[in-house]
Parts: sequence; C-alpha cells; structure tokens
Amino acid sequence: MTTLDRTQAAAPPRLSFKDYCREQQSFADAALAGLRRKQKAIPCPFLYDERGSALFDKICGLREYYPTRTETAILKANAEEIAEYCGAHASLIELGSGSSVKTRILLDALEAPACYAPIDVSREHLRNAAAKIARDYPQLKVEAICADYADAFPLPEAGRRTVVFFPGSTIGNLNRDDARTLLASWRDRLDDEGMMVIGIDLKKDPRVLEAAYNDAAGVTEAFIRNIFVRANRELGADFDLEAFEYEARYEPGPGRVEMYLTSREGQTVTLCGAPIRFAEGERVHIENSHKYSLDEASALGEAAGFSPLACYTDDAQRFSVHVWSAS
Ligand code: TRP
Repeated sequence: MTTLDRTQAAAPPRLSFKDYCREQQSFADAALAGLRRKQKAIPCPFLYDERGSALFDKICGLREYYPTRTETAILKANAEEIAEYCGAHASLIELGSGSSVKTRILLDALEAPACYAPIDVSREHLRNAAAKIARDYPQLKVEAICADYADAFPLPEAGRRTVVFFPGSTIGNLNRDDARTLLASWRDRLDDEGMMVIGIDLKKDPRVLEAAYNDAAGVTEAFIRNIFVRANRELGADFDLEAFEYEARYEPGPGRVEMYLTSREGQTVTLCGAPIRFAEGERVHIENSHKYSLDEASALGEAAGFSPLACYTDDAQRFSVHVWSAS
C-alpha cells in the first residue's frame, strides 16, 4: 500500500449509499395484488424506474406543470428565512429526492449543513444525483438512501437539528389519511428540535389542474403509461399500450386529480403468468394528486403532531411551502 492509498483508506467516505429497496419482488406482488382488486390499481412508487424518473424531470419543465417553477421561486425568495429556522449544522433529509434540484436552494442558504440524506426508490437516478451534490458541495457529507420513504430504515446520525425536506407536493400523492399517518411517522422519528419543510400544491381552477397532469406534448401520459412498459419488461406482462387510454380528472369532492389508464376494449392481459381480465371502459388507477387549501395544509401538519412556524406562497397562491416544528 502506498502512502496515498493509506490516506484515502483512513478518510471516512463523504458519499455513502445504502440500499433498502427490494424492488423486483415487490413490484410483482404489488402489481398482481393491485390488478386483482375491484378497483384495479398499481401503486405509484413503481412509476419511478430510470425512464420514469427521466420523464418526471421533463414534466417538471413543462409549461402546463406550474408546481415546480412556482415552488422553486417560493424557496428562492424565502431561502434565507428558512435557513434561519434550520440553524447551523442541520442534517437535511429529503423524501423522494429525485434529481435533488430544489435541494440546492436550501443547501446554498444553510449554514454549514452537517449532512444531506436523499431518499428515493429510483436507484441509479439517486446514485447520480447524490454524486453530483457531493461533487458540488465539497464540505457536505452525503448519505444516499435507496428506499421507499414510507418504510422503516435507519437514518443517518443527526447533526444539530434534523430537517426533513419534502418538496414537490409529493405528500399530495397520498390520500388524506395516509398523508397524516406518514407525516406523523416522520414526526415520531424526530426529536423536539426537528423540523419539516414541505411543499404542498393548492386548490385552484380545475382546468389549470387538469392541464398540469395532461400536457399537450403527452409527457405526463408517457410517464403514466411507463408503468405498463415497465411491467412488460420486468414482469413478462403483455400490455398492449394502444389498448389503454390515459385520463386525468379533477374530482372536487376528494379535492384531487385522479389519473387512470382506461381499457378501450374488453381484453385479457397476462402478468407474471396470471391472466388479468379488463372490461371495456375499466380503469386502472395509477396516481392521485391531492390539492389543499392553506388552512387544510396547516391542519394536516398539526394533525401529524407538528406546529406551523411559517407558510410561504406565490402571489397567485398556486403553491405553498410550509415550515413546521416537531415540538
Ligand atoms: N407530486 C407530483 C404531483 O402530484 C407528482 C407528479 C407530477 C405526478 N406530475 C405527475 C404524478 C403526473 C403522476 C403523474 O404533482
């Protein structure tokens, strides 16, 4: 061993990667169980394979998809204040980190953050995003965690304060009860110093909402259809993509955009060797995106055991970013 090697071996790795995903098996089980239910469904975390994550990045840049640019502007306008709430040497944990783009706004504003732990199910996407953050923030310890953020797994050792960053209105992809349960479980993993910074999309004109989830260029449609593409490749399924139609509808009752793939005709699809029967017009539920009023959003945090510290929106009140304390 040369001196150089020994020096490198002694230095603790600044970028680590932990894997708690048992994807392959669980995709087969989840897809089969979901497609055997009365209301057929496939759980949304399986949208995010490599291609899904790349399509999602494209969605974020679409003209119709206002949440990304609106949330980005809100974070930029308020980064200093949010960073003050976080204090120095905070550990930042991000749920569903994707390409870790918005995170940079916080990292740039935070004083000497102790560590950044991006959590995502999309393994290679996470690996690349974490490596880029480590490269661009040479002082920062990066602990990437490949996992479903709803599962239990060990968290990195805390800095002075743990801040859970949950942008993108990802919380809206859970129904309201599950959202409260998930947030409460993260509340329980924090001590009283802990905080959450969460982005929540707001209720608005249904036409604006429906366009955001059914863009003219068909990127969102391709993203949703990708779950069948993935099933064909990974589960030996034989979905005929042309035989299903994409639908995105705002339902004012539950206050959410519902996304479906609807069978254009009666047909039988084979998945994991099992026949799945579809009636004409039968829908497979792929995703919901719940919308909140500002009051509903704060109430959600409180129901999960958080205390609201601050709430920021854009002028048109399209989107909101909330700072909640765990105490
Ligand atoms: N959290 C995002 C949202 O609900 C996720 C998302 C954006 C999404 N576009 C989508 C999920 C299209 C499914 C389909 O806005």
